[in-house]
Amino acid sequence: MQKLLKSLGPVCAVIGAQWGDEGKGKVIDLLSEHYDTVARACGGANAGHTIVVKGEKHIFHLLPSGALHPHTTVVIGSGLVLHLPTLCEEIRLLKEAGIDVLPRLFISEEAHIVFEFHKAIDVALEEERRKREGKGIGTTGRGIGPAYTDKAARDGTRMQSLKGDMLPILERHAERVRRLYGVTVDSEQELAALAPAQKLLKDRIVDTVRLVQDKLRQGKTILIEGAQASLLDLDHGTYPYVTSSQTTSAGALQGLGIAPRVLTACIGVAKAYCTRVGEGEFLTEETGETGDRLRKRGGEYGSTTGRPRRCGWLSIPDLRRAVMINGFTHWNITKLDVLDEEAQIPVCTEIASDGKAVWKKLPGWKTSTVGITDFLKLPKEAQQYLQFIEKETGVPASLVGTGPGREQMIVK
Ligand code: IMP
Repeated sequence: MQKLLKSLGPVCAVIGAQWGDEGKGKVIDLLSEHYDTVARACGGANAGHTIVVKGEKHIFHLLPSGALHPHTTVVIGSGLVLHLPTLCEEIRLLKEAGIDVLPRLFISEEAHIVFEFHKAIDVALEEERRKREGKGIGTTGRGIGPAYTDKAARDGTRMQSLKGDMLPILERHAERVRRLYGVTVDSEQELAALAPAQKLLKDRIVDTVRLVQDKLRQGKTILIEGAQASLLDLDHGTYPYVTSSQTTSAGALQGLGIAPRVLTACIGVAKAYCTRVGEGEFLTEETGETGDRLRKRGGEYGSTTGRPRRCGWLSIPDLRRAVMINGFTHWNITKLDVLDEEAQIPVCTEIASDGKAVWKKLPGWKTSTVGITDFLKLPKEAQQYLQFIEKETGVPASLVGTGPGREQMIVK
């Protein structure tokens, strides 16, 4: 571990390489023990990570996973859109479990607020698209797209505003939202939803850019938790079936106001196979029995929406592109053990000119890898599978997940 930490350096980002749900939470949990500050940079409550606190499972959407470690300073950057009742509930749940995150939580005054009406617009736009095109984007319904739309249109509301009177702001939104979307804003309901956050978070809203710069000057270390993933990126993902923010390493730095040259490492997280929630292309998808088998073995159900995830095989061209865009220095390949029972493992190595996948079948290992922590103890075929990914992408598989538990990880 010490060797890995040394190679990561003081400012490390963890970024999903596929369509999200790669299992970023576990590597973040493992690493955040060793970092002073943990930060989220983009997205909102569309993200979901399962956290086990005192034996109880909680699904967190906004707080960085590293917040569980009581020594960490927790930063929520300007790139986020925040649904405040969700954030307050997460803080409360942690407090109940004996973890007081509030005194060490710093929220950017530039982050934007997701109102209840953003959620209503999200649902209405999905419905409209379904009628118009036969299918929606398959959003999480958390108001993410509409909140970022308001931000880009310069009609959004920043966290800074929470320190003042929200009624005039809501009245302005009401007129605009009715005119543009035909959605009614219930100002009283909105105010009631905001009131606890106004009380609880008022002192926690700061200039996080300065805070992070000060930390860096003091020689502190920062772990940046990416949300969603490369193929859901607004610019580089499978548009229009993407989320509405920049989910790459560059987006993460932008969402925190950290200069690109400051980043010392970027861990790409990819499952040993592949999944996707929502609509959009998925060249290596298995829709039949094989997909069902992967879903069952991998427990592939969305943590935010509970939707069954679409399952399929690894795509080397997608991983290569993610390496290009994000500048990955290390891989964390997750859920290797889900493939334990496969006799052969198809991998897409290229996309042919007709748009079809070119496959290579790698031998399976047909034996349990659950809990293995030493690369050399893996069956030969599993070692070869990982080496194949390394060779094809030019990035070392420094961390490999072999089960859901915290300790079930190979650290090379
Ligand atoms: P939105 O971010 O709710 O607008 O959803 C846009 C697309 O991104 C949908 O296909 C969602 O399923 C997907 N998505 C958003 N957040 C996540 C995530 O954290 N994991 C996996 N998929 C996500």
